Amino acid sequence: MKNYNIAAIGGDGIGPEVIEAGVEVLDALAKADGGFAFRFESFPWSSQLYLDQGHYIPPGGLEQLKAFDAIFFGAVGSQKVPDHVSLWGLRLPICQGFDQYANVRPTRVLPGVKGPLANGKDIDWVVIRENSEGEYSGVGGRVHRGLPIEAASDVAIFTRTGVERIHRFAFELAMKRPRKHLTLVTKSNAQRHGMVMWDEIFFEVAKDYPAVKWDRELVDAMTTRMVLKPATIDVMVATNLHADILSDLAAALSGSLGIAPTANLNPERRFPSMFEPIHGSAFDITGKGVANPVATFWTASMMLEHLGEAKAAARLMKAVERVTASGVHTPDLGGTAKTKDVTRAVIAAL
Ligand code: NAI
Ligand code: MG
Repeated sequence: MKNYNIAAIGGDGIGPEVIEAGVEVLDALAKADGGFAFRFESFPWSSQLYLDQGHYIPPGGLEQLKAFDAIFFGAVGSQKVPDHVSLWGLRLPICQGFDQYANVRPTRVLPGVKGPLANGKDIDWVVIRENSEGEYSGVGGRVHRGLPIEAASDVAIFTRTGVERIHRFAFELAMKRPRKHLTLVTKSNAQRHGMVMWDEIFFEVAKDYPAVKWDRELVDAMTTRMVLKPATIDVMVATNLHADILSDLAAALSGSLGIAPTANLNPERRFPSMFEPIHGSAFDITGKGVANPVATFWTASMMLEHLGEAKAAARLMKAVERVTASGVHTPDLGGTAKTKDVTRAVIAAL
């Protein structure tokens, strides 16, 4: 029997609520499957810890995480800590420290869910987000604070290595999908250095994947295409910032942020990868027991796939889809079910 060591980091807000639900479902799945088991270790890294002790990740914390097979992450962000402090204190050090450069975000309208688009059934996408550099490289500065000459900059860094590996990852993933179609999202009309290189390297990599059909779209036009012509999209690859925005749009079009999953992958497996729902701490519903756990279950399914348990991953998604189809929905989907009701229903379906 295989044993998987999973680091569980609930974080802030509804993060711990959905991660608890995810752990429960994964344990039930392992029991039903019989071929593998999980050992979860919980890390209390959160904004509360930061307020109490001055750090999110304690000294040596990242080193400790390295030993795990995967990281199961909730959300980070608190009303008591500026967002740039919390994000750079917990989530980004893991993504960047473990070179999780490929962020993968599948989008579908699950059975029984009503998205805002009349043709929502046409949505079957994977958004691939460059996750290690670009606009979020952290390069920049701020000087002359408070003076009229105060200045601030954020520099988007694009490297040949960084751009080539994400495009290659996108082509590889597109190859595995039935439609084998990839859209390059860009802004090379206005940003004439980094984005032009982003496009050029894409065209070079494309030559190695003649089986993949591709096209190119400016990021602003991509938003309208997602809404008006969803059937023309299969896989898209975009920069850190562009895909951040497009994937929230994708999540909304799929019915709710409470459904959308994401994987932060280190494809070479030199470091553990991290799996998390797309949504944040959701202050407005924290502690009410109504957070939709579906995003976290879908995330768990992606984690299983990464661990090599494709059959169990599919089984979990089937159970989740049976539950969404049956109408056991949390309030974000227009229902009255609690987190616990959805969790119990998925376990029963398993
Ligand atoms: P958010 O995702 O926390 O909430 C946006 C809206 O979606 C809220 O109305 C919320 O109730 C709803 N929502 C989100 N997840 C839901 C779920 N599972 N079930 C039902 N409804 C759900 O985004 P917001 O408000 O922009 O950010 C709140 C905090 O979370 C901020 O501090 C932000 O920095 C942080 N954040 C963290 C992320 C992460 O850890 N990866 C991602 C996004 C935001
Ligand atoms: Mg986002």
